[in-house]
Amino acid sequence: MSLKKLVVLFSGEGTNLENIIKKLHKKEFEGKKIEIVKAITNNPHAKGIEKAKNYEIEVEVIDHRNFSSREEFDEILVKSIKKVNPHLVILAGFMRILSPVFTSNIKNAINIHPSLLPLFKGANAIKKSFESQMKVAGVTVHRVSDELDSGEILDQRCFHRDNESFEEFEKKIHQLEYELYPKVIKNLLIN
Ligand code: GRF
Repeated sequence: MSLKKLVVLFSGEGTNLENIIKKLHKKEFEGKKIEIVKAITNNPHAKGIEKAKNYEIEVEVIDHRNFSSREEFDEILVKSIKKVNPHLVILAGFMRILSPVFTSNIKNAINIHPSLLPLFKGANAIKKSFESQMKVAGVTVHRVSDELDSGEILDQRCFHRDNESFEEFEKKIHQLEYELYPKVIKNLLIN
């Protein structure tokens, strides 16, 4: 049985993290076992910390406020990731812009973004997409690259808009995230 190691980076609620844990952590697929060997957050108050600990997943807090530059923070982040030598690094609501210190060292990282990239990059993507005139909305999984939300698109899911309230719209976006992200991760690790 070969082991496929994952590291998850998160900053807040951690609902994507929990969804990935439920669907993939310690699960076997075609003779390969997926394991989240570590979760890392930049936010000591992130709700996701408790969620990961409930599943006995090691959580490391690297508070970005203790560093004077992005690069210094990224250096420590890279070291922490390299220690466990994962097959894949997953960004799940990780609200930090990563510098080339990260992207030149960690080549196997992916992110989920709550819009149909290349539209609505950056913060508040759900709000921007809700307020747009687009008749479809959705989510994107992409590789992490030097430029924010601009790496290779791996997969997307979308829905046709139906005059939803913002709350309904947001809920649909999150549902698509929970459906798509584990599938892409599994495909990358198992196939
Ligand atoms: C998700 O919508 C994700 O796409 C975005 O941040 C949100 C994180 O939510 N990057 P959660 O922490 O997984 O609940």
